[in-house]
Amino acid sequence: MTTITGIKLNSNPKLQMGTFYVAVWGCQMNVYDADRIRDLMVASGYAEQYVPDGADVVILITCAVRAKAEDKVFNQIAAWRHKGCIDKDTIIALGGCIGSELAQEIVAMDPGISIVFGPRTSHRLPAMVASFRASGENVVDVKADALEKFDALPEQGQRGPSAFVTIMEGCSNHCSYCIVPHTRGDEDSRPEQDILDEVVLHVANGVKEIHLLGQNVNSYRGLASDGSITRLSTLLYDIAAIPGVERLRFTTSNPMEFTDDIIEAIHDLPIIADAIHIPVQSGSDRILSLMRRNYTADSYRTLVAKLRQARPNIYISTDIIVGFPGETDEDFAETMRLVNDIKFDASFSFIYSKRPGTPAAIMEDNIPAEHKKAHLYELQRQLEEYATQYSQEMLGSQQRVLVEGISRKNEHELKGRASNNRIVVFEGDPSLIGSMVDVDIIQVMSHTLKGKLITK
Ligand code: 5AD
Ligand code: SF4
Repeated sequence: MTTITGIKLNSNPKLQMGTFYVAVWGCQMNVYDADRIRDLMVASGYAEQYVPDGADVVILITCAVRAKAEDKVFNQIAAWRHKGCIDKDTIIALGGCIGSELAQEIVAMDPGISIVFGPRTSHRLPAMVASFRASGENVVDVKADALEKFDALPEQGQRGPSAFVTIMEGCSNHCSYCIVPHTRGDEDSRPEQDILDEVVLHVANGVKEIHLLGQNVNSYRGLASDGSITRLSTLLYDIAAIPGVERLRFTTSNPMEFTDDIIEAIHDLPIIADAIHIPVQSGSDRILSLMRRNYTADSYRTLVAKLRQARPNIYISTDIIVGFPGETDEDFAETMRLVNDIKFDASFSFIYSKRPGTPAAIMEDNIPAEHKKAHLYELQRQLEEYATQYSQEMLGSQQRVLVEGISRKNEHELKGRASNNRIVVFEGDPSLIGSMVDVDIIQVMSHTLKGKLITK
């Protein structure tokens, strides 16, 4: 194997089980899972290294929402093998949604992948590695009961000033195009006290911003200590009451379950950030119905109007799928009409990707790829225009910024995030990292804003 660089050794050398490297692709829930896996591996006696070269265990966590994500991970493994970063002795563990989607097929496709795990079985990784080491037999372990993972994981390690907290696993919506209910299972909410304890621990470690995660957070129904069921709105009030939490975000919200109590919480709690992500997927009622989304473009418009009334400066971002089977030019025009009505902030848009086993996979899809690409281009140009407009409107404003670190482009500058999620860079002392500061926005660049620290 090639030289090992960037190794972080455990304090107790007796505990050395070897080294591991983690790479993650996909959604924020995967990022959260990757962090918890790091804590778990370290607690189990492994040392983390920040390059794959020579690691004993290479852990890859990836998404399966679109076919492209799967291709990426296999290409990455091939590239590492080609460069000699990993070899036949490397224990490769592949997991995340791809694990539960393809399970045994992964080992059939590439027997060099020693371990396959799923989003709900990551807590068993050290045991899987031990089993593979003992027997040399590939391990495929992708199924687990509800929330067993959260109970089995060690306490959270040190994070930056912003921390993800997963509040629920899975999704029970079964949108016709989506593989998530299959890969992450039906919805299960974590008990409220577990979440509050995790938040308290983060705050004790210097975290200022809590970002609640789930595929469908608006339908959170967690068991409370008194045996009742806590909804998202109550959880928001309860977290906001924890001293030290200075900013609160939550994703992803399904428009169908954006109830008035959540809108009220947004109105009541200034601690909730000015950015809300609400995937709309399409502006055509016909397509929304084929997608099984259970709302209409007009009910989405009404929801946004209510949110803007509750919080006039709220920034709404979304996800849109282009080229769903049977989507006509008229359907796409409806999506553009919605985009122009709402004027979304920074949003994500994708070409529909057929996911085996989903209801949409058997719908006739006769739209040429070129046509879909042209629509995507038109949509993205419009989305980008609105996002730029919003940035420009911030020029001259004062923003409260959570300082996350040193700017990547200029080591004399700090970078942080404004409440609406815009990245702001400004000159300042590194001792400010981890704190909230006020800055004047003095310049708008393509994807970031330049600020000037306000010193009092
Ligand atoms: N094809 C394209 N995009 C998809 N998404 C989910 N499934 C698919 C698919 N099969 C998108 C949705 C979702 C985001 C996370 O990924 O827009 O909101
Ligand atoms: Fe997938 Fe729909 Fe659930 Fe989102 S709400 S994860 S798109 S099934």
